[in-house]
Amino acid sequence: MKSIFKDVSDLNGMRNAGKLASEVLDFITPFIQEGVSTEKIDALCHEYMRDVQHTIPAPLNYQPPGYPPFPKSICTSVNDVICHGIPGERVLKSGDIVNLDITVITPEGYYGDTSRMFLIGDASIMANRLCQITYECMWLGIAQVRPGTQLGDIGYAIQTHAEKAGYSVVREYCGHGIGKVFHQDPQILHYGKPGTGSCLEEGMTFTIEPMINAGRKEIKTMPDLWTVKTKDRSLSAQWEHTVLVTASGVEVLTVSEHSPHPPEIVKPVFGQTFPPSTILI
Ligand code: MF3
Ligand code: CO
Ligand code: CO
Repeated sequence: MKSIFKDVSDLNGMRNAGKLASEVLDFITPFIQEGVSTEKIDALCHEYMRDVQHTIPAPLNYQPPGYPPFPKSICTSVNDVICHGIPGERVLKSGDIVNLDITVITPEGYYGDTSRMFLIGDASIMANRLCQITYECMWLGIAQVRPGTQLGDIGYAIQTHAEKAGYSVVREYCGHGIGKVFHQDPQILHYGKPGTGSCLEEGMTFTIEPMINAGRKEIKTMPDLWTVKTKDRSLSAQWEHTVLVTASGVEVLTVSEHSPHPPEIVKPVFGQTFPPSTILI
């Protein structure tokens, strides 16, 4: 089942879910510092979702086929962890990079899914560059979105930018359709060939969430069956937005007051302010 929303109440439901997911990241940002444990970050986000937003953290007890239930409310992926890092006793230290991935379910049943990278203390120039290039990869993918774009066009835009920088694209995990379900069709690969794959249609909602490794693309899954690391132990970064295909282009749904602006490299494409307008093109 593809999520194609045309109904205004569905669209507003998805806009609200996207904004709330992004607001969890705004809320937690001041706490992301040297000395804080990932389980403390999880607990603060959990309380904010439950007590302030009245949303449900989608990861908690999420159990796709073949997986144990995910035990926490958010994903915290540090350094060589590519994705699905489980919050625990690990304390963030200067030089670390961490991805926080938030998915909320609103009381109306809509999902919003977004993640950002955070650099702790004195992160290296290498770590900074990886996070920046990955951010640009996500936005170059977003900039492709409009009715008629083929899925391969999105993957190609992301892959070429990552590989030009000397990085690799993780193949095993991808963006996904999202709506009243967490993960559904279509799969949004972050690599591909232009002019291939199915066409985007107005009303589709999906995520773009490239995972980019500083070294080789191969992964290694930990014995907890969730945590995914780079096989060569190189650093990995990821950013994620949930987007809507509009008649004229794309609307980024996971935006809020403190969302980082699009990078310089996509500004000529959009030529609009962001935020407050989330409607691009
Ligand atoms: N938020 C992740 C995504 O972008 C999925 C996390 S599933 C979990 O699709 F169970 F690990 F939380
Ligand atoms: Co996602
Ligand atoms: Co996510």
